[in-house]
Amino acid sequence: MPELIVSLDIAERKEAEEVVEKLGSSVMFYKVGIIPFTAFGPKIIRWLTLLGKRVFLDLKFFDIPNTVENAVKSACDMGVELLTVHILGGSNMLKTAIKARNTGNTDTKIIGVTILTSFSDNDIKEIGLYMDINNHILKLTELGYKCGIDGIVCSVHELNLLREKFRHPFLMVCPGIRIKASGDDQKRTATVSQAVSAGADYLVVGRPIIKSEDPLLVVEQIKMEMKKNEKK
Ligand code: C5P
Repeated sequence: MPELIVSLDIAERKEAEEVVEKLGSSVMFYKVGIIPFTAFGPKIIRWLTLLGKRVFLDLKFFDIPNTVENAVKSACDMGVELLTVHILGGSNMLKTAIKARNTGNTDTKIIGVTILTSFSDNDIKEIGLYMDINNHILKLTELGYKCGIDGIVCSVHELNLLREKFRHPFLMVCPGIRIKASGDDQKRTATVSQAVSAGADYLVVGRPIIKSEDPLLVVEQIKMEMKKNEKK
């Protein structure tokens, strides 16, 4: 059964506390990305952990191997369950990240970011990458897999293609999930049922929950939809 991760993309302490409180035991897994991490620092992770929550630290490390090695060690020491690095950082960086994780006493899974879900084919051409998105993602996933990462972040659009080649326990983490059409910055979006049917392990949902008038209701709707599609 796939799991829901709520993306806590909030920089106001009171607002973050209110969302986590409202969601209560319905949400046990949170993503901490650069918005809350730059606002609150590591104490957001300690706070969530003390509440018994699981944490996905999504800082998308992309730097020289030595820098990433040291950052991965610190992240693993904080007890996060999932941690992202950019596969575009290359094999030396990826292998060093895994080595750093393996030297610590931790179960942290290293998850590779392929191409952001806010990118379209035109957006990747603009930065000088001329294969289509699917081919880039396939190539990056192959590289990450060879280097020993535990899974990737990708959109639901690529899942069918990727699941055939990269089976469980290789993890597929999918953001860009939308309950209804939205005009925000995400381009490769999909519904909850599409994500579940395509074989996502984790559905990452931010704004549709945290910006809603009734976040708990949206979470319950998403969970119901997940269950319904799981049975098919
Ligand atoms: O609000 P929304 O549901 O779009 O939030 C998705 C979250 O997942 C954001 O925090 C975003 O930074 C993150 N993410 C993404 N696409 C990726 C990797 C991470 O949208 N490829």
